[in-house]
Amino acid sequence: MIDLNGVKPFAEGGNRRCFINPQNPNQCLKILHPGLLDKINKTRPWYKKARTLESFDDNLREKDGYEQRALKSKNPDIWKHLAKWYGLQETTLGIASVTELIVNNGQIAETLEHYLLNKGLTEKIKKSLQSLEYWMKEHLVLTKNLLPHNLVLKEDKDELVIKIVDGLGCHSFIPLPQNFNIFAKLYVNKRIKLMWQRINWDLSGRQGNWK
Ligand SMILES: Nc1ncnc2c1ncn2[C@@H]1O[C@H](COP(=O)(O)OP(=O)(O)OP(=O)(O)O)[C@@H](O)[C@H]1O
Ligand SMILES: [Mg+2]
Repeated sequence: MIDLNGVKPFAEGGNRRCFINPQNPNQCLKILHPGLLDKINKTRPWYKKARTLESFDDNLREKDGYEQRALKSKNPDIWKHLAKWYGLQETTLGIASVTELIVNNGQIAETLEHYLLNKGLTEKIKKSLQSLEYWMKEHLVLTKNLLPHNLVLKEDKDELVIKIVDGLGCHSFIPLPQNFNIFAKLYVNKRIKLMWQRINWDLSGRQGNWK
C-alpha cells in the first residue's frame, strides 16, 4: 500500500488527482476525486443508467485502454507517444492508476494546451503533431478524443515528442475498431480529424462548439 498522507498532488483534471509516487519519482499515481462515482451515480440521466457505475471509473477505463490489441505489439515504437503503464495499485487515498511520469530536466512536462496557448502552432509543434498522426495510423492505437490538455510534451534532443497521458481506449459502443483493422483505421482517422478541430478551436479563442 502506498502512503499518500501529506503528499500534495502535482496536477488535477476533472476526474482525477495526480501525485508523484513517493516510492518511485518516475511514476505518476492517478486517483479518482473522492466521492466522484457516488456523485455520477446520483446525477446521471436516465439514458446513462444502463451503464454500470464501473464504466465511469477512469482508472478502469485506462486499464482497458492499455490492454488494447495494438499495445500487445513487440515493436518498441508502439510506446513512442505513450506514458508507460505500470498497472493499478492501492494507496491510502484509493486505487491509483500508475503510469510513467513525463518530465523534462526534473520538471513535469507541459501540456500541448499550455504550449499552444503560449506559443501557437509553431513549425516545431506541427512536426510533433505530424509524428503523432503518423504513429496512430501506423499502429492503429485507439484513443478517445485527443484533447490538448491530455497530451504532454517530452523534450528529445531538438524534438518535442507528444505523449498521451489520458484518453487511451475506444469510445465506440459496438467493439468493431478493437477487432477489425478496417474499422480501426476509420476510427483513428476520425480521432485525428477531431484532434485538429479541437486544436483550431483552442487557438481561435474557443468560439462556439468544437465538434
Ligand atoms: N504521466 C504524466 N506525466 C506528466 N503529467 C501528467 C501525467 N498524467 C497526467 N499529467 C498531468 O495531469 C493532468 C491531469 O491528469 P489526467 O488528465 O489524467 O486527469 P483526468 O482527471 O483524468 O483528466 P480529464 O479532466 O481530462 O478527465 C494532465 O492534464 C497533465 O497535465
Ligand atoms: Mg485529463
